[in-house]
Amino acid sequence: MSTSSADLPIDETSRARLADEGLRLAVVDRTDPAAYEAWFRAETRGFHDAAPSPETIAQRHRGLEADRRLVGVFDDTAGIPEQPVATTICWPADLTVPGRRAVPAWAVSGVTVSPTHRRRGIARALMEAELRTALALDLPAAMLTVSESTIYARFGYAPAAFARDLTISTRRVRWTGPVPDGRVRLVTAEQMRDDGPAIVERVRLGRPGEMSYAGHLWTRQLGLGPGDKDAKKLRIVRYDDADGTPQGFAVYDLTMDPADFADHELKVRTLVAATPDAYAGLWRYLLEVDLVSTVTAHLRPVDEPLRWMIDDFRAVRVNELDHLWVRVLDVPSALGARSYGEPGRLVISIDDPLGFAAGTWAVDVDAEGEATVTATDDPADVWMTVNALGSLYLGGVPARTLIAAGSLTGDAERLDRMFRAPVEPYLSIWF
Ligand SMILES: CC(C)(COP(=O)(O)OP(=O)(O)OC[C@H]1O[C@@H](n2cnc3c(N)ncnc32)[C@H](O)[C@@H]1OP(=O)(O)O)[C@@H](O)C(=O)NCCC(=O)NCCS
Repeated sequence: MSTSSADLPIDETSRARLADEGLRLAVVDRTDPAAYEAWFRAETRGFHDAAPSPETIAQRHRGLEADRRLVGVFDDTAGIPEQPVATTICWPADLTVPGRRAVPAWAVSGVTVSPTHRRRGIARALMEAELRTALALDLPAAMLTVSESTIYARFGYAPAAFARDLTISTRRVRWTGPVPDGRVRLVTAEQMRDDGPAIVERVRLGRPGEMSYAGHLWTRQLGLGPGDKDAKKLRIVRYDDADGTPQGFAVYDLTMDPADFADHELKVRTLVAATPDAYAGLWRYLLEVDLVSTVTAHLRPVDEPLRWMIDDFRAVRVNELDHLWVRVLDVPSALGARSYGEPGRLVISIDDPLGFAAGTWAVDVDAEGEATVTATDDPADVWMTVNALGSLYLGGVPARTLIAAGSLTGDAERLDRMFRAPVEPYLSIWF
């Protein structure tokens, strides 16, 4: 990678397309506080957030990581011409793939188009620009978490890791799971800021779909983000094992039911456990807090063992959502980066309307599950859309589901033996 992600020149194809409409696509000068402020105000407005205070903007600017690439679309005829009418922020992050390893991927975030400029093809120009930028940076895949699941399939992304929201009726629940001998301690956000990253890092490679992160994406989980209006409500517990080593933590808040003080809702915002003991210790603590009748937890893994650790399976209601969307760009690099469950040769034909991944590719998997991927003229064993490839990539979507949906043809059992991961993919954060 010769140029850093923040400095690469703007994509020429999308720049020219938007210039034809009198719009200017540009990389925002991240070192200029005024340019950052204008970009940040446009981004928060795009997500319908309250206008940020000058202090919040200044703190976010000071904390902006060096690899963040800010892009804006400017319209000199707009009401506030210095503020972009469309935004993105992107950076390279390590995405865990099957085999306890990671592939560098382009994290695409902050995608907004002003309501005054919607449905004129601006998002399309931005999205295509980001895919070409990712390839220019030698990144084999792009990824995002989405506000609506209707937007990104047309750009080749597909759901690859799912998540669940849980609602637990604690009065129906008796803990039947393990009772580990470590300790749960209430700690401050500042303590956790220092202890937490090592725990997050120990978990990351064990779970396809997790990504590397630091900075604002970390501190905001603890209420330490600039201008965090919920910070005072947060409680943080850390699980230390019998040797005193921190192995997990949970962040939660409590909301009172005005009609009954004994009916608080405890909302689990984050729960990270590096060991089974930490997992059991933290969940048991959370389910047994007094004056609480309901525990809710957002964005939990689909294979959460919690329901097997309490005596009433139906005390937990589950709502599933698509969470991490993946877009494969460079097939040999992306498919060559993960491991496979069965050796052999599979020739895959990929249909990609944007062209990046299109072609016929031979995946040769050796006895250790390592793959070599090359372009081939051999007849294909399986055919799939680039979206189906994205869904298969982390090993979480069964081939037969995609065959039923018409986006894949081939031998489902063989594909599953090769592609399915032993651990369900999961991403524990929004970005
Ligand atoms: C979503 C958003 C970025 C789309 O911007 P836009 O400039 O209006 O989109 P475009 O005009 O480039 O549309 C591109 C394509 O996506 C489709 N599309 C755009 N927004 C869509 C939506 N919300 N749902 C379904 N399809 C959508 C368009 O119909 C168009 O389809 P086509 O090219 O296949 O004909 C914009 O509506 C927005 O800022 N929304 C609020 C913030 C948000 O949700 N951002 C996404 C964060 S993940």
